[in-house]
Amino acid sequence: MKTQVEKDRVVIFDTTLRDGEQSPGATMTHEEKLEIAELLDDMGVDIIEAGFPIASEGDFKAVSEIAERSKTAVICGLARANFGDIDRCWDAVRNSNKPRIHTFIGTSPLHRAIPNLDKDEMAEKIHDTVTHARNLCDNIQWSPMDATRTEHDYLCRVVEISIKAGATTINIPDTVGYTAPLESADLIKMLIEKVPGADEVIFATHCHNDLGMATANSLAAVEGGARQIECTINGLGERAGNTALEEVVMALKVRGDIMPFYTNINTSKIMNISRRVASVSGFPVQFNKAIVGKNAFAHESGIHQDGMLKNSETFEIMRPEDVGLSATNLVLGKHSGRAALRSKLEELGYNLADNQLKDVFVRFKELADRKKEVYDEDLIALMQAGEDAVNDHIVLNELRVVCGTNGPQEAVMTLTVGGLESSTTATGDGPVDATFNAVQALYQHNAHLQLYQVHAVTEGTDAQATVSVRMEEDGNIATGQSADTDTVVASAKAYINALNRLFIRRGKIGQNKREVNWKDVS
Ligand code: KIV
Ligand code: ZN
Repeated sequence: MKTQVEKDRVVIFDTTLRDGEQSPGATMTHEEKLEIAELLDDMGVDIIEAGFPIASEGDFKAVSEIAERSKTAVICGLARANFGDIDRCWDAVRNSNKPRIHTFIGTSPLHRAIPNLDKDEMAEKIHDTVTHARNLCDNIQWSPMDATRTEHDYLCRVVEISIKAGATTINIPDTVGYTAPLESADLIKMLIEKVPGADEVIFATHCHNDLGMATANSLAAVEGGARQIECTINGLGERAGNTALEEVVMALKVRGDIMPFYTNINTSKIMNISRRVASVSGFPVQFNKAIVGKNAFAHESGIHQDGMLKNSETFEIMRPEDVGLSATNLVLGKHSGRAALRSKLEELGYNLADNQLKDVFVRFKELADRKKEVYDEDLIALMQAGEDAVNDHIVLNELRVVCGTNGPQEAVMTLTVGGLESSTTATGDGPVDATFNAVQALYQHNAHLQLYQVHAVTEGTDAQATVSVRMEEDGNIATGQSADTDTVVASAKAYINALNRLFIRRGKIGQNKREVNWKDVS
């Protein structure tokens, strides 16, 4: 029998490193995965889905190392419904203090057709694979993929089989983001009422955001009896993404009056991890994104500002500090010293060794010379831009761009590639096109530009621009980022950063590349 406390506690299962990282272009390096796992563990995430061990050597290594290093969180790996996947997953998570195997199979009519199994054959496969997993590990999660489009009687049947075979958590995925809140609540309620043994397990909800309802559907599932929410930082994930961790956690915290549930998340860590995930995945957070968007706590209009000054509760339902935003955006400038910079960076979640601080301080001074006021966002952009700079294969030495109303624009560029310096002049349809053409002339490559995005970090004509560039080469995708007060320079550096990442990745093919199609569940 669950106690009252357990009854009201919602377990947070984070899948940023698995479902989030699966999103095209969001691939993270090994070190980045370890860092994000540590931040998730520190913020109180109950279960970290660290990867899909059979997918590649790189995934296996990352899950194994996260399992070995984890402090408090359960470490989970994903496995399709076959013994090979499950064994590999167990090998990766077994060294965690608290390992979990998560195995799944698509149960809806469309998904049953892929391995060409009839209902009985699939039921037998579920029984055999969950039994096999349970013989290895006593913490087993089972998911009927595309559950929200599976016939209810068949869903009840396979959930019962998996519970009898030893599953301890039953996850009900809305794989294609199809369900709606009332339906989401009713589905969980129906399963709890109808399936024998349902009160012995925890039901989880795993929603995708294709119709923008992932957060609402997850919270409704909790109302229906689910006590585990699967989510990702910033809602990262395939297509429109997964349920955003920060949204469900803050909704439960702020609206405890009507949703009397709680989580173990230390919400003051939200902003820091959101920034790190945005940076390492190369997926910037939209400005008006709930909780973690740049404008989420900004009050622009006169009426709002007036109200805020009189009583912040007039327009604010949560305090910025609750999510880890500093109450004051202390501005630094060219007279600020090293101690002020260190303290500001620590507040933003960057703890630097002395030699790192020395390097950042030089770059900070360069920026402060060009820009009168350096805001938090400028420092974050500066930190993110500096992450890949060391030991780069391609380095931008100089760029001069000539613009005119009657074009074509011209870029004069000097690059160092593999230690050799060379220069060229290239033209293009606009300054960025000319710049990219110059890079192509000096470093010939077959990578295709998939995405080019520019954001102004702060307001004003001296604002820094952050640029994201996503490139694809032979199925490898890399995202480069950079920031500069000059948009064209930031574009050149972001483009070169993506090429450097592809260069590294090329040397590691087989280690980072997914070798199996995770959807191939036969
Ligand atoms: O969306 C989904 O169905 C999944 C499963 C693997 C749980 O991510
Ligand atoms: Zn998913």
